[in-house]
Amino acid sequence: MAELLTAGVVGTGMYVPEKVLTNADLEKMVDTNDEWITSRVGIKERRIAAPGETTSSMGAAAARAALADAGITAAEVDLIITATITPDMPWPSTACFIQRALGATRAACFDVEAACTGFVYALSLARNYVATGMYRTVLVVAAETLSRITDWEDRNTAVLFGDAAGAAVIKAVAPPAGILATHLGADGSKGELLEMPGGGSRHPTSHETVEARMHFIRMKGNEVFKHAARAMAHSNSEVLAKAGITIDQVDLLIPHQANMRIIEAAARLSKLPMEKVYLNLMHYGNTSAATTAVALAEARRDKRVGPGSLCLLVAFGGGFTWGACLLRL
Ligand code: ACO
Repeated sequence: MAELLTAGVVGTGMYVPEKVLTNADLEKMVDTNDEWITSRVGIKERRIAAPGETTSSMGAAAARAALADAGITAAEVDLIITATITPDMPWPSTACFIQRALGATRAACFDVEAACTGFVYALSLARNYVATGMYRTVLVVAAETLSRITDWEDRNTAVLFGDAAGAAVIKAVAPPAGILATHLGADGSKGELLEMPGGGSRHPTSHETVEARMHFIRMKGNEVFKHAARAMAHSNSEVLAKAGITIDQVDLLIPHQANMRIIEAAARLSKLPMEKVYLNLMHYGNTSAATTAVALAEARRDKRVGPGSLCLLVAFGGGFTWGACLLRL
């Protein structure tokens, strides 16, 4: 077999909708308050897609920014992988819609569904396609319109989620830059703790499924909470061990942005000080697969990290799924 190439991130981009929904706005919608949301979760506001916006339109906006950042055209893209649990529709894939919006006519397209871990899963796939030489330029897009599957009458979940998109261009790079290692995990036996049960082959859409509010996110938050920090810390140690890197060499931890207390616990278990942890959940809430993609794009844009920086992305979500990606820019 030919020698493997080193795949790395050569461009990033992000998009968030204009509309801001604050905790004060939510106080008028459900029985909640800013103090509870801030202290229990850490979110102050989130973005909500406008009526005409979709996962693919936001994903295409983030993708255009990532392509511009990488200095490449849509025509050069060989493959588009979209990570989402809120596709434009069950099929065609959201990646196909993004291809059409970009005019990336040479690209193969598919979606990855790994809930909040979707961006990490998609990066792992992109890395392998580039490393083996099968594709030269892979566009990874993580985009979510969670506002469309949020039950705005359920205070347990309504305060948590938002809409956003992030994207990254993956190409062969010269070491020491590149994706150094990835680690992926899953536990399907815990699926019902975090799910959207309606609309698939198990519960096809019917008046009954809609009346039972089965097309909204359902989460046993405190059960999920128990697993999230430990799984993320586990992924961190696995990926670091694979790469032969120690935690103190990491410049920035980019964790899935679901809950400040989960992030703090994961950082503590991984023995990483909070100064090295990227946080933006106060501005955007939990945007599932998009959180880590948006955070990486923001951290690069704001020069929090730059060429040579060692970034550790880690996530946990429905499935359960979890995973980490160690990346030198
Ligand atoms: N405002 C005020 N009170 C509330 C609210 C609210 N918005 N939501 C819940 N409460 C109440 C509950 O009703 C409960 O009241 P009770 O004691 O009278 O019954 C009390 O607060 C405590 O509820 P818990 O659910 O035990 O609160 P907890 O501290 O666990 O926080 C939260 C809930 C924020 C959901 C937390 O469990 C969490 O972050 N879980 C993990 C989320 C996560 O990581 N998800 C992963 C990815 S998401 C994805 O894959 C799409």
